[in-house]
Amino acid sequence: MSIASTPPSFHRRPWLHAVPERLPGVVHADLVPTLSGDHLDYANLDHAASTPALERVVRAVENATATYSSVHRGTGWLSKVTSAHYEAAREEVARFVGAREDDVVVFTRNTTDSVNLLARSLPRHTNVVVFSTEHHASLLPWRTRDTVRLPVPGSARDAEVLLEDALRHLDRGTVRRPRQALVVLTSASNVTGELWPVERLAAIARRHGARVLLDAAQSAAHRTIDLGALDVDWVAFSGHKLHAPYGTGVLAGRRDWLDAAAPYLAGGGASAEVTETGTRWTSGAARHEAGSPNVLGAVALAAACATIREHRAVIAEHEARLGDALLTGLRGIEGVTTYSLFADDHDRGPVVTFTVDGLDSNLVAAALSAEHGIGVRAGKFCAHLLVDALLEEDPDDTPHATAVRVSAGIATTDEHVERLLRAVAQLAAEGPGAEYVDVAGQGWVPVDDPRELDVALPW
Ligand code: ALA
Repeated sequence: MSIASTPPSFHRRPWLHAVPERLPGVVHADLVPTLSGDHLDYANLDHAASTPALERVVRAVENATATYSSVHRGTGWLSKVTSAHYEAAREEVARFVGAREDDVVVFTRNTTDSVNLLARSLPRHTNVVVFSTEHHASLLPWRTRDTVRLPVPGSARDAEVLLEDALRHLDRGTVRRPRQALVVLTSASNVTGELWPVERLAAIARRHGARVLLDAAQSAAHRTIDLGALDVDWVAFSGHKLHAPYGTGVLAGRRDWLDAAAPYLAGGGASAEVTETGTRWTSGAARHEAGSPNVLGAVALAAACATIREHRAVIAEHEARLGDALLTGLRGIEGVTTYSLFADDHDRGPVVTFTVDGLDSNLVAAALSAEHGIGVRAGKFCAHLLVDALLEEDPDDTPHATAVRVSAGIATTDEHVERLLRAVAQLAAEGPGAEYVDVAGQGWVPVDDPRELDVALPW
């Protein structure tokens, strides 16, 4: 594990460029009010939680809405059109994840839902091996008695050693009945942004005959997913972290465990035949998609997958530049500590978690919003075990219980990053520029806030 409060010594590229025009368009928010009375372009540095919609996604939803009708449940022409949209969306997602011929793509609500679906489909006597660093969607759905939780690794190599040891231990297990194992891996940490060595860890799992679930919630918008090349069995991710905020996620991969499991929800669409005495369930994706599906969510997700696939190179370049700028800039501010698990030169996405000496992280986040029009997340980011472990190394005299996370993406501009760095430097040097009070149930709020949350309802 490493923490840094001084600039790293390795070379970083200059970053003060304009945003390249070839980036796909993102729906813009209105200006947001600040305490000074100014209205600023919203600096959304919370992409790791939710991403704004791509313009193409909104257009795709509008187009599909024009012909929206029942899916797989009607003979009318528009039902056929809508069913075709839904299945074409499934095919686009299959392309996006490099699905193998026999893989199945199940539409869910989000990553949490996808992981819970696989957890409910585990064959009996399956051991699950999961790192404590996982966010709660991948950490909590497993039956405790069959789960081995690996400690927070100190380096990428350490992660490999921990996994190898755990699987070797399971191989030598004393239980008489045959057991199989599922290894749960994340492709990128939602806390540190670091990319995990998935190929090497998956290879270790394979050597021990274990299967692998890849949680790609944090990486899908940033890096290519290829089930075959990575040699993993399933991948889970969410539309709302992929610029398709319409309530859809995906579990894609091997069909055997899913076909053998009870349907996730019992209902129409999942049933092939219903008699007085019983129900015969269908197989494939439909088995776990009972009820009328979220077609517009699937269309949105497919539009996002297609757009991101086509713009991978320019998105990667944009995000690498912004990620470098955030990390280098924050590390250069006195009184700021950034947190990482792996070495400084480890590959990472545009996410940095930090604390400011002497300031509550939630107060920092409140001041960034109220005084600078910047949206970040503060807390433990639904990854309590990892954040607790990182903060144990906090060098501040008064250790922090929580941290601040900034996360960039397609909608982030150089100006957003510059504003964030100026604001954090000012907070670290002088504290907040206004008075705040910690209100139960609300957190830190400005005293005498002139802004009215006078929200124009979207309908
Ligand atoms: N959605 C959670 C986050 O913000 C996990 O990282």
